[in-house]
Amino acid sequence: MRLTNTENDLFSSGFVLPEHRGGDGWTILHGDALDIIPHFQPGAFDAVITDPPYAGGGAKPSEKTRTTNQKYSSMSADKALPDFDGDQKDQLSWMLWTAVWMSKVRAACKPGAPICVFIDWRQLPALACAMQWAGWIWRGVAVWDKMTSRPQKGRYRQQAEFMVWGSNGPMPLQRKVGCLPGVFRHANPANRIHVTEKPLPLMREVVQTCEQGGRILDPFAGAGTTVLAAVQEGCEAVGIEVTNAYYELGTERLKNALQPTETAE
Ligand SMILES: C[S@@+](CC[C@H](N)C(=O)[O-])C[C@H]1O[C@@H](n2cnc3c(N)ncnc32)[C@H](O)[C@@H]1O
Repeated sequence: MRLTNTENDLFSSGFVLPEHRGGDGWTILHGDALDIIPHFQPGAFDAVITDPPYAGGGAKPSEKTRTTNQKYSSMSADKALPDFDGDQKDQLSWMLWTAVWMSKVRAACKPGAPICVFIDWRQLPALACAMQWAGWIWRGVAVWDKMTSRPQKGRYRQQAEFMVWGSNGPMPLQRKVGCLPGVFRHANPANRIHVTEKPLPLMREVVQTCEQGGRILDPFAGAGTTVLAAVQEGCEAVGIEVTNAYYELGTERLKNALQPTETAE
């Protein structure tokens, strides 16, 4: 979507658009989701699908406050991808922050809209609490089986991440959406450009909770995987990304993947 300050059906009037880039069916806005979300028109979105910073990486403050590369990547320093913002909160602060953005984002959604939020095992209970505090109906937890993980002697493998999902009030059965899976099996992307990038085939399955042609919001877009998946599956999508490096990398990726290739005459 190519947005202008004067003509768009996304934002309440008077809001000055932040830096943004887009193409057919997609826009990424550069900024803090908490600053931008309150300005969306009520009911602008048909679904929220996102993968926020988990603020994970350990139980102790000294583990949680490491950089995102230290926590989530085994790449050598010379190949390391950019770190991203917002991942160093302790659990209580993270839960409060999550409750606030989820509450604000609900006001921008249509009645019955689904919300799907990825998370690890440690923050799963806090996320389910925050979702309900924010007024969403919590409806379940789907599993992303990553298929590989580090073996741990005498312990279960941490082989899965989770997707907590719910809806903005009652979820009408007559939505034009088929039966959706409860377990997704996809390996992590081989050549990723974001430290915690989700696999595109995973997100192409997940976005199918939105009716064809609907508009999806991802307030924590990273390298734009949800936005790309949404457009590839016939939806519109709006992303928000605060970290400059990922705003640049994500919008470049989307332009390359979605721009029609020019043919020589
Ligand atoms: C887990 S990553 C998302 C990765 C994404 N799913 C992908 O496949 O590339 C979370 C992203 O949220 C961004 N972020 C953190 N706090 C934010 C905020 N307050 N507003 C907007 N983006 C934020 C981070 O910079 C990071 O890129």
